[in-house]
Amino acid sequence: KIIILDFGSQFTQLIARRVRELNIYCEIYPFNNIPQFDGEVKGVILSGSPYSVRQEDAPQVDLTEIQNKYPILAVCYGAQYIAHINGGSVEASNTREYGRANLQTLNNSNPLFKGIAVGSQVWMSHGDTITSVPESFEIIASTDHVKVAAYHIKDTNTFAIQFHPEVTHSIDGKKLLENFLVGICGCSQDWTPDSFIESTINSLRNKLGNDKVVLGLSGGVDSSVAAILLHKAIGTNLHCIFVDNGLLRKDEFAQVLEQYKHMGLNIRGVDAKDRFLSQLAGLKDPELKRKAIGRVFIEVFDDAAHEVKDVVWLAQGTIYPDIIESISVKGPSATIKSHHNVGGLPDFMKLKVVEPLNTLFKDEVRKVGKSLGIEDFILSRHPFPGPGLAIRILGDVTPEKVDILQQADAIYINILKEEGLYDKVWQAGAIFLPVQSVGVMGDERTYENVICLRAVESVDGMTADWCHLPYPVLARISNEIINKVKGINRVVYDISSKPPATIEWE
Ligand code: XMP
Repeated sequence: KIIILDFGSQFTQLIARRVRELNIYCEIYPFNNIPQFDGEVKGVILSGSPYSVRQEDAPQVDLTEIQNKYPILAVCYGAQYIAHINGGSVEASNTREYGRANLQTLNNSNPLFKGIAVGSQVWMSHGDTITSVPESFEIIASTDHVKVAAYHIKDTNTFAIQFHPEVTHSIDGKKLLENFLVGICGCSQDWTPDSFIESTINSLRNKLGNDKVVLGLSGGVDSSVAAILLHKAIGTNLHCIFVDNGLLRKDEFAQVLEQYKHMGLNIRGVDAKDRFLSQLAGLKDPELKRKAIGRVFIEVFDDAAHEVKDVVWLAQGTIYPDIIESISVKGPSATIKSHHNVGGLPDFMKLKVVEPLNTLFKDEVRKVGKSLGIEDFILSRHPFPGPGLAIRILGDVTPEKVDILQQADAIYINILKEEGLYDKVWQAGAIFLPVQSVGVMGDERTYENVICLRAVESVDGMTADWCHLPYPVLARISNEIINKVKGINRVVYDISSKPPATIEWE
């Protein structure tokens, strides 16, 4: 495996993605929290950083031991840092060093540039630049503006580049990474979904033995893939719990439950609709609604988990980005656990935790799911928030409003599917607006509520843009909702991006 030391660059996760696309396993660690390397480590990549090496509080790391033992590829800040600590100079650059550039000279006989031709386009993104390097450094590539685009410390396995091989604008970036990982580090490219499945099943068997495990299924991709992996490893010792909070999409509880049973899971569906809806009655504030739902979920799950005798483990579908966030250079995010800590821990929180997907990115989870034979119906579903339709009904939630929203949402989603648009949209859903407006149906005046349609494009939900759905499709959705859903006489489309809006309305 490869270790990536993170100095806080926005591109660090992208480096990891590229390494894994080459079927090589890698892990990211913050520069100030490096683990003891095990025998599996074959090389180290240093990331970029928003800092300048000239700043007093710039990230520092003692590389002596690593440099003696492992090949290093230093990117951007990493390259400047190694030049700086070895007596080279790094200064603020006075020419533009952002965006496209071409390697005007490069040393083809250097293993890093094997198979890469002069003229290759690379992507630069730095405010500082290396202006001189010590004697022992060989400059192995330059561009018109950047003399030290890449260097190699002679007679060592330390290589450095000021451009970013991980972004797609660096045309031969993947080739360069492959040269480093395979040619220089000697990694074999055998990390695939199937090898992940095989080794994870083995390690789950060793870890869990004959212990019983509970897992909360949500119908989403992550918990489903985690469940199937565990099921393959320990069979019926895995007890799945799927809670109907009454805030799911129309017919979803029954459909998904059926699907899970079909996959052979040992699963219990818990109908807790009334418990959730009665606790929500009269609550208008979005945060109070979320808290109530979180609290009832914990109670319901705790009760159900208690019915599994002698349970030892709680399985969770946590994925790698959550882990990276919690150990990142920028500090752990407090939001993940805060709502579990109110009023003492429920019993299930005292269980040992097992997270079989905590080394995977989202698209890797989908690939593993596909290899495990999970149907597209589950793998390609849009993200859906835990509090469900409660945060898509503005203000207080009543069973009538849930019913109206479920009908409108089902019409919307079905039309997106029929028109072949569902997979092109990252997330879509209908929102119930408790605003009444006047309409006319036949000869009658109506005074009813509004449904807003939301559809966004995004990569990770952190930023998003509204989808430019074709007008004829919007027209069809609007007609069908107004004609079929009693209580709605107006449909609008949300054309706000995130930021400054958010994806959900509450
Ligand atoms: P926002 O509205 O913050 O949403 O732009 C970003 C993504 O997060 C989902 N989301 C939630 N998921 N519990 C969840 O499990 C929540 O309380 C919650 N709020 C928002 C939202 O659906 C979108 O994918």
